[in-house]
Amino acid sequence: MTSSTLQLGVIGDPVDQSPSPAMFNPALQELGIAGDYKHYHVKPADLESFFRRMRAGEIHGVNVTIPHKQAVIPFLDELTPEAKAIGAVNTIYFENEKLMGHNTDGAGYVQSLKNHLEEPLEELGVVVVGAGGASRAICYNLLKEDVGELLLVNRDAQKGLALVEHLRTLFPAQSFSLSQQNWEPFLQNGWALADVLINTTSLGLKNENPWPTLDFVAKLPKHCTVSDIVANPRETQLLNDAKSSGLRTIEGWEMLLNQALLAFEKFTQKKAPAPIMEQALLKSLTS
Ligand code: ATR
Repeated sequence: MTSSTLQLGVIGDPVDQSPSPAMFNPALQELGIAGDYKHYHVKPADLESFFRRMRAGEIHGVNVTIPHKQAVIPFLDELTPEAKAIGAVNTIYFENEKLMGHNTDGAGYVQSLKNHLEEPLEELGVVVVGAGGASRAICYNLLKEDVGELLLVNRDAQKGLALVEHLRTLFPAQSFSLSQQNWEPFLQNGWALADVLINTTSLGLKNENPWPTLDFVAKLPKHCTVSDIVANPRETQLLNDAKSSGLRTIEGWEMLLNQALLAFEKFTQKKAPAPIMEQALLKSLTS
């Protein structure tokens, strides 16, 4: 069954929590594009049949959320350089009849950061907390855009080191300062050279605050910007403490918005109506 209107969606398990339909449907409408963006609840065992439906022309593009960002890769024809380097896919679309896997998470995050900063990334010292999939995407895009200095901090030092090594192999010719700091010393002392701190872990999600301590916040320099990719709640304890210390903050919904804007452009070849999508996202996060 092929569909003449643009059929889009997000696949995940669970998926109902995804705010993507709330963002994409008003955006399609705004641009007068006949189409629909749905939640597709796809269990791991059903990925194969889902991709059969896509290849049959029933569905034209999807975003991918937990737990499928890596599992979808074998079903695709080609990965973009971003998706290949990050090892995960969050956006799938057709290009020249090929099923493409792309990743807009890191570029979306970096765009949200640039929206807030006056200085170029080349001049910034950035500390990234966490070494999972989100961290990998963000670090890749920071290095791609020549960030001045990157310090990675992860509870599991081995995993942190493995990510640092992986990133070095991705940018062999580039001279940048990329290092790792152990978890405990960082939590105690912060980092005096941090212009930006990014939490890429789930610490603080849903108002739970399992950070062993947030003492490091008070040790960051006063001009530091603190950013959390946790979007629920909008103001995590980390951001709350940062504000109390007089630091600038960036809330997690901004990454969600910016990765969606980039995905919209892949699906439609049109510039996404950012204000409409922002308004819809913020409404869905508070409802
Ligand atoms: P995602 O794809 O969302 O980034 P992930 O790949 O599971 O998720 O990575 C989770 C990250 O959050 C990891 O860096 C993890 O640290 P470890 O490598 O030490 O496990 C971090 N994380 C999760 N829970 C944590 C906790 N309670 N304390 C510290 N770090 C935590």
